[in-house]
Amino acid sequence: MAKAPTTRIDRLLSSLGYGSRTDIARMARAGDIVLDGVRLRDVTRRIPLTPDLPACMVVDGAPLDPLPGLVVLLHKPLGMTCSHKEDGPLVYDILPARWQHRNPTISTVGRLDKQTSGLLLLTDDGDLLHRIISPKRHVQKTYRVTLARPLNGNEAALFAAGDLMLAGEDKPLAPAALDVVSDTEALLHITEGRYHQVRRMFAATGNHVEALHREKLGNLSLPDDLAPGDWTLLREDQIALIFQGG
Ligand code: URA
Repeated sequence: MAKAPTTRIDRLLSSLGYGSRTDIARMARAGDIVLDGVRLRDVTRRIPLTPDLPACMVVDGAPLDPLPGLVVLLHKPLGMTCSHKEDGPLVYDILPARWQHRNPTISTVGRLDKQTSGLLLLTDDGDLLHRIISPKRHVQKTYRVTLARPLNGNEAALFAAGDLMLAGEDKPLAPAALDVVSDTEALLHITEGRYHQVRRMFAATGNHVEALHREKLGNLSLPDDLAPGDWTLLREDQIALIFQGG
C-alpha cells in the first residue's frame, strides 16, 4: 500500500485556518494540541496525512477539523447568498468561522439564488467541483417549483423539446423533464446551470416562480432530517451518488 504523504503540523494547522505558524507554536506551548493523547510541543514535526488524523488529534479541546478534500452538504435557507457580489448574509457564514481561512479555500458547487432553498454543496476539492458542474457530465438537478399561476399544460413538452431559447441567449436549453405535482407545483429536472434558469424557464411560459427548492443532485437527495441552515459532511459513497442516474 502507498505510504500516506507527510506534513508539518504547523503547516497543516495553519492551512486549516487555525492561525499563523506562530499562533500554532503558541497553541502547542499552551498544551492545546494533543496527538494520540500526548500534548504536542514540536509543531515542526512531520506526521502522516491519514484520513483518521481528525480522530487522533485534538486542537483547543475539539477534534481536528476535516482534512482537505471535504464536501459539505448544506440545507441552504432562504435569504442567504452564495456570492460576495450580492447583498445579505453569505452561506459561508453558516460554517465554522475558521473555515474561511482554509487553504485550499471552500467554494459553493454552483450557486442557488438568495430566494432559493435546498441542497447546496461546498467543497475545497476543485477537481470534484468541476466534475459536478461540467455540462459534459449532465449531472441532473431536481427542483421543486411552486408557481404563482396554474400550469397551462404544455410546459412538459416545451421543456423536453430541447429548443427553448431563453431571453438574451443564443443557445437553446438542453431537454429538461417536468413532473407535475399539482396545478401550481412541479418537479423540474435540469442538467444545466444557467443564470436563474428555472425562474426564466417558467417566465418563458408566462408564469412566475413563487418558491424554489433544490431537492436532488444526481441521486443525492437532501436528507429529510437536515433542517434549513444545517449541514453535514459527505462520505465517499454519498459523493458517488451525485454521478449516478438522476
Ligand atoms: N434556477 C433558478 O432560477 N434559481 C436557482 O437558484 C437555481 C436554479
